[in-house]
Amino acid sequence: MKTYKYIFGLLLLVVVVGLAGCRDEKPVTNVGKLHFDNSLKIPQLLEPTIGADGTKHFTLTMQSGTTEFLPGKKADTWGINGTYLGPTVKVSRGDKVSFDVVNQLDVASTLHWHGMKLPAAMDGGPHQMIKAGETWSPNWTIDQPAATTWYHPHIHGKTAQHVYRGLAGLFLIDDEDSKKLPSNYGVDDIPLIVQDKLFTSNGQFSEKDDTTFGTLGNEILVNGTYDPYVKVTASQVRFRLLNASNARAYHFGFTDNRSFQVVANDAGLLEKPVTLERIMLSPGERAEIVVNFKPGEETVLHSYSSGSGIENGEFDLIKMEAATKLTESAPIPEQLSSIPPIKAPKDAKVRQFKLTMKSEINDKKMDMNRIDEVVPAGTKEIWEINNFGWSHNFHIHDAAFRVLDVNGKKPPEYERGRKDTVFIPNGATVRIAVEFGDYPDPNHPLMYHCHLLRHEDDGMMGQFLLVEPGTESQVPTTLPKSDTEYQHAHH
Ligand code: C2O
Ligand code: CU
Ligand code: CU
Repeated sequence: MKTYKYIFGLLLLVVVVGLAGCRDEKPVTNVGKLHFDNSLKIPQLLEPTIGADGTKHFTLTMQSGTTEFLPGKKADTWGINGTYLGPTVKVSRGDKVSFDVVNQLDVASTLHWHGMKLPAAMDGGPHQMIKAGETWSPNWTIDQPAATTWYHPHIHGKTAQHVYRGLAGLFLIDDEDSKKLPSNYGVDDIPLIVQDKLFTSNGQFSEKDDTTFGTLGNEILVNGTYDPYVKVTASQVRFRLLNASNARAYHFGFTDNRSFQVVANDAGLLEKPVTLERIMLSPGERAEIVVNFKPGEETVLHSYSSGSGIENGEFDLIKMEAATKLTESAPIPEQLSSIPPIKAPKDAKVRQFKLTMKSEINDKKMDMNRIDEVVPAGTKEIWEINNFGWSHNFHIHDAAFRVLDVNGKKPPEYERGRKDTVFIPNGATVRIAVEFGDYPDPNHPLMYHCHLLRHEDDGMMGQFLLVEPGTESQVPTTLPKSDTEYQHAHH
C-alpha cells in the first residue's frame, strides 16, 4: 500500500511539475517577505521655467547611476534627473510646453510621451532618436482632457532594457474636471508606479528574460521603493496607479477587501466613479482610484493572482497607514468628466489586427521603413484586435479610444472611459472606437503595438501615418532610408 501511495505521489508530482513547466510563467510571490520598512518615495514635481509667451519649459536628463533598493546593496540603474525613474511633469490643458531631453547615457535612446496627443515628430517614438551626448527639444500644446500619462524610451529593440533600468516618469495633465478630485500632489494625490524586478544576490537588477514575456520579476518596486509603506493624512486619497512593468499585469485590491472608487482610465476621467474591489492593469495602463481611510487604520495594496499568464503571482505592493488624525476630504463629484464618450460614426472605417504567439501584427514584424496604415487625421475609426495566442495588450500613439466590446460583450463599467492601452486576453476579440490626433504629417509615423516590452522589441508593432483627409492614397508606404538610419543601432 505504502509503495503504491509513494508511486502515485511521485506520478502526481511529475504531472504537476510538467504542467507548471507548460505555463507561461511559474507562480511567484513576495507575500510574507516584506516588512513595509521604507517610506514611499514620491517622484519630485519638476519645476518649469516660463518663457515670454508662457511656454512651460522642462529639462529631462537621462543618466546612469547607482540606487539602493535592497537594504545595504547598490544596483546600477538609469534615471532621469536622478538615478532611478524620473520627476513628475504636471501641466494643465491648454499649456504650451517645451522640453530639452538630454541624453547623458553612453547609448542612444528616445523619450516617448505615452498617452499624449501631439504632432508625430514630437512623439519620441523610434524615429526620434537621441544619440549619446545629444539633446532633443520637442514642443507642443497640451490639447486633451485631464489624464495620468507617462514618459519612457521607445528605441526599437531596446525599449524593454531602457525602461527596466529605470527610464520612466509621470506626466500629469489637469483640467477643470480633474481639479475637483483630491489634487495635493504627494499628500492626497499620490502616484504609485508599480514595477516588478529580478535581483541578483548582490542587489543588482537581473535582466534574465527567459519567459515568452521577457523579464518577469519576483520583487516589487513602487516609485522605485522596495518594501514600501505610505502614511495617509486625508480621509480620501487619490492614487494614480501606473503599471510601468515590462510584462507583468497586476490585479490590484486591498488585503482587507475594502472597496475603492475608480475615477479615471488611462486617458481621462470616467463619467461617474465606479465602486470596485479589484482592478486589473496590464503594462502601460493607468487608473486613478480614490480610497477612503479611517483614522489609525492600516491596509495593504495587493496584487491578486488570477492565473492567466502575465497576471500570475501574488504580491504585496505597499502598506498604507492612516494617521490618527485625518483631514476631512471634499466628497468626490458624482459627475466626473464633462467630455462626451468617444463615438465612432456609423460608417466608420473598421481595421483588423491579428495578434499571435509570434510577436507580429497581421503576420508582419515591425519594419521602420514600412507604413502599415494610413489614417485621416482627426477621424474616428473602429479597430478590431483579435488575439490568437498568449496574453497581449494593445496601445496606440497619439490616440484615445473607448473599448466597445470584448468578445461581443460590453466591457465592465470601470473600463468604459478614455483609454490608450487595453489588455487583450488570449483568444479574445476586442473592438475599440479610436479618436486619432488631428495633426497631419505624412513624413513621421506613429506606432501601435503590444506594450509587453519584449513583444514590442521583438517586432509586435506597426506604424501609421496621420494625413490630411482625402490624401490617404497619395502617401508613400515606405519611408526614406535616411529616416531610419538608427534602426539597427541595437544590433
Ligand atoms: Cu508606452 Cu509606444 O508606448
Ligand atoms: Cu505610447
Ligand atoms: Cu504581446
